[in-house]
Amino acid sequence: MKLILLGPPGAGKGTQAQMLMERYGIPQISTGDMLRAAVKNGTPMGLKAKACMEAGALVPDAVVVGIVEERLRQPDCDAGFILDGFPRTLPQADALQATLLALGKELDAVVSLEVDVDALVERLVGRRSCPSCGAGYHVRFDPPRHEGVCDRCGAGLIQREDDQETTIRNRMEVYRQQTAPLVDYYGKAGLLRSVDGMLPISQVGQALLAVLGSTP
Ligand code: AP5
Ligand code: ZN
Repeated sequence: MKLILLGPPGAGKGTQAQMLMERYGIPQISTGDMLRAAVKNGTPMGLKAKACMEAGALVPDAVVVGIVEERLRQPDCDAGFILDGFPRTLPQADALQATLLALGKELDAVVSLEVDVDALVERLVGRRSCPSCGAGYHVRFDPPRHEGVCDRCGAGLIQREDDQETTIRNRMEVYRQQTAPLVDYYGKAGLLRSVDGMLPISQVGQALLAVLGSTP
């Protein structure tokens, strides 16, 4: 299964990617996670990306295209992959097409998670993430068993720096201007499937599997 999860910040891309990863045994490729790791490790790429991410702006296309290209060449992507947070601009989508063509791979589907803007802000403000294993939670909608502690690995949960309300509003605007046109792009390519992302997490997962032709 070669898949793109498309949707605004907080739509549930990361949450559903984790489910799909376990279900299909294929890797999640999250450019956001890769960039955050680069920032944390202080790599040259991380130093370049840091200010953009803190402001809720996009990191330059050339930077993300390079990391995704490299990632897609890894053998664990042969059976499939879930792209989460990439592509985010038309040039990124064109670059992905070129890379897949060069690798002899084709996308199976692009799933767009549809969520109202007001729900997105509430989701992001209440999101908590595990800095150690990457698991995601929500204080209300998906709380860990013990407050502030990751169910999977026991690490202390953190709030992402870009999950402050003003930065969230910037990210929404960037999505509207630069990423939303991809819905049309993949619609025209005949790859787009839409899923109601306003449902509870498990029901979104079931709807997603249904549009991919898998039984929940
Ligand atoms: P990135 O990490 O990709 O952030 P994003 O796209 O803003 O998406 P999020 O991770 O915020 O949301 P999500 O849809 O994954 O939601 P989640 O499942 O966590 O990017 C961060 C930054 O990196 C960008 O701003 C940019 O600077 C840079 N960047 C990354 N990729 C780039 C690229 N390709 N090009 C350029 N720059 C790039 O869910 C959110 C919360 O809601 C969670 O708490 C979850 O538990 C909860 N939740 C999920 N589903 C539901 C549901 N159905 N009901 C109730 N709650 C739910
Ligand atoms: Zn963890």
